[in-house]
Amino acid sequence: MSLTKRGEYGEYIFKVGTGLIFRAGNKSTPEDIALAKAKGSIIELPPPNLEIHQLTAVQWDDYRTAVNKDIPSKGVLVRWSALHGLDPNYPSNLYCGFVDGKAASFNATYFSRGKKKNAWGRYVNFHLAYTFPEYRFHGFATQLSRFVEEEARKQGYHRLKSLCQSYAGFRLHLALGHGFYGIQAATAHRGKDGAGALVVDAPIKMDWQFPTDTAPIEARCCAEPAHLLSEKEVRAVLGGPFYGSVSKEELDRCFKKRPLRYR
Ligand SMILES: CC(C)(COP(=O)(O)OP(=O)(O)OC[C@H]1O[C@@H](n2cnc3c(N)ncnc32)[C@H](O)[C@@H]1OP(=O)(O)O)[C@@H](O)C(=O)NCCC(=O)NCCS
Repeated sequence: MSLTKRGEYGEYIFKVGTGLIFRAGNKSTPEDIALAKAKGSIIELPPPNLEIHQLTAVQWDDYRTAVNKDIPSKGVLVRWSALHGLDPNYPSNLYCGFVDGKAASFNATYFSRGKKKNAWGRYVNFHLAYTFPEYRFHGFATQLSRFVEEEARKQGYHRLKSLCQSYAGFRLHLALGHGFYGIQAATAHRGKDGAGALVVDAPIKMDWQFPTDTAPIEARCCAEPAHLLSEKEVRAVLGGPFYGSVSKEELDRCFKKRPLRYR
């Protein structure tokens, strides 16, 4: 907790994480006395804008050990986190969002080098989203993902794909309005790493027209690829290996707050 400034009315303003605590300075009014007794009150502020920079492989190397340590059991995340920037086969763009000069949230997205291959256009592959625990639930991963999507849009990409292996990751993609197609089959290309993961595929360029009758080619790694358009269908796949512990009550809360809003 750090003293930020003395306010206009003599109150003290402390900064705690992303919130501020106001504490009475002049105990002459009942409100000030009440505030002083309560030792201040927390006022939630909207999350600050991240300062976003692209990282080099060397800069990423400083952070990836901490990231891998925090997500030891998630195969795809750990593998991609380890490889980013170090393996020329995975030359992803690595972005980091900083809060007050400290690294808070990461995003690694592979901007495919190839030309448009099919009717779904050019893809970016959203490999890694990671926010350090002390910065979670402030919208930072969402903010960073939006920034990356905007970069992709500017560079002429049309769609984004991802594999999602955690409930938190599912919530992030849901908040971003991404579409879900089913569970990656073990027999799919690179299925060993991503088997059981929820397949995400979504447009990043809003006015691009895509074929609507079939699943995008990139989403055909699912056993039965189909755009999951109803809450019931999404709930069914969330019973899979990575999401089994999510309770019905949690999903009720989730869809109440965040109904499917595919784009
Ligand atoms: C997933 C992760 C990147 C989210 O980071 P974050 O900065 O906290 O994300 P945001 O604050 O932008 O939250 C995005 C949405 O996910 C929800 N969410 C995030 N973590 C959640 C959790 N553990 N349980 C439930 N919902 C969660 C948020 O409430 C928000 O949804 P809402 O807007 O509908 O309320 C972070 O939890 C993380 O690094 N987890 C470990 C790695 C991982 O699982 N990555 C997923 C890769 S697909």
